Amino acid sequence: MIIIFKVAVLISGKGSNLQSIIDRLHIKNNNIEIKCVISNNKDVLGLKRAKDSDICTYTVNDCNYKKSKEYEKEIINIIDGQSIDLIVLAGYMRLLSPYFIDYYYPKIINIHPSLLPSFPGLNAQQQALDYGVKVSGCTVHFVDKGVDSGPIIKQKAVVVDSNDTVNSLSKRILKDEHKILPEVIKLLSLNKVKLKNRTVIIEER
Ligand code: GRF
Repeated sequence: MIIIFKVAVLISGKGSNLQSIIDRLHIKNNNIEIKCVISNNKDVLGLKRAKDSDICTYTVNDCNYKKSKEYEKEIINIIDGQSIDLIVLAGYMRLLSPYFIDYYYPKIINIHPSLLPSFPGLNAQQQALDYGVKVSGCTVHFVDKGVDSGPIIKQKAVVVDSNDTVNSLSKRILKDEHKILPEVIKLLSLNKVKLKNRTVIIEER
């Protein structure tokens, strides 16, 4: 019997990371299926990308809910209706509450455009340039209750040039995001990622 590893992807915008997961993993002999894409913004490019690949989409507009718990319960209803194995935050620009994190931990991962623990939160590339670091990069991590503070699964370093702008640095980092996020999903689907306290051990073979 073939066991399918079922993934839900949460997005807020253009969804280039979503596209990289679709292109590299979705079905394609990987036993990985993106069951649904959930966006907190309507009419974003990421939703179109999902629809173009015949993936179920949902818009749960956070502005329509007075309490974050009600908003998150709506998302939980969608996810739990589909026996999801992994929730991927791919450019999802809203913080999730401790209620949501406790409910799923450690089944949520996030991609962040810096070498954490440096430059968590918004505008990570700008933060890196302002600080003057010579190397930045991207991180895939488990999501815990803090801001970009969960156990680190994989990172990739990117050299920062003296003439880099936010735009040029973001583009180079994004290229690597598109590689490491699918790599981590694949490893998780093969049960090769072990979490011991906050240390992540990857069984590469
Ligand atoms: C990426 O840089 C991601 O790391 C950050 O937001 C950006 C989203 O890009 N959280 P996209 O929507 O996947 O194109």
